[in-house]
Amino acid sequence: MNNIILIGFMGAGKTTAGKLLAQESGMDFVDTDDRITAWQGRSIPDIFAEHGEGFFRDLETELLKMMQEDTSHAVISVGGGMPVRAENREFLRSLGCVVYLTAEKETILGRVKSDGSRPMLAGDSLERRVERLMEERENCYRQAAHLCVRTDRRSVRQVVQIIRQETRRYLDIDPAIEKNG
Ligand code: S3P
Repeated sequence: MNNIILIGFMGAGKTTAGKLLAQESGMDFVDTDDRITAWQGRSIPDIFAEHGEGFFRDLETELLKMMQEDTSHAVISVGGGMPVRAENREFLRSLGCVVYLTAEKETILGRVKSDGSRPMLAGDSLERRVERLMEERENCYRQAAHLCVRTDRRSVRQVVQIIRQETRRYLDIDPAIEKNG
């Protein structure tokens, strides 16, 4: 399918870059957290507080199944934990070109430190949490991605320009052809 899927750690800039990318490319913009929030009628922190992380992860997988049917020609910004499940990585790749937005720990910390809306980062010692989760997830992101784009020391506009250039050759490629090289 011809979507562009942005994955990466919380604070990597998926939503900001995704919105501009969608606007400049004439594509729809979809944020998986927003879809889950609208579908469940509750915020992400409320879902975590009431049902726990496992329940939220199941919702993410269900959403990816729905998106196979109803989402095309869109830029999809994906919650930071979505690519951790192997099953989700397959679903993401079948939706289109998966772009991993990378950022160094210091960049991430600068972007997430004053934001209390992320349950995975709640509690003490933000730096250690970010460090541990980034380390745990790095391989998952790399396995899910067709492409990686660094966001450190780049403006949103520059990041978007690179994504547009790099994804051009992936879009509209039949997945069967891609797999066989
Ligand atoms: C999460 C990232 C969040 C959201 C939820 C869990 C994670 O999305 O899905 O709070 O586990 O990394 P963003 O990456 O958009 O912040």
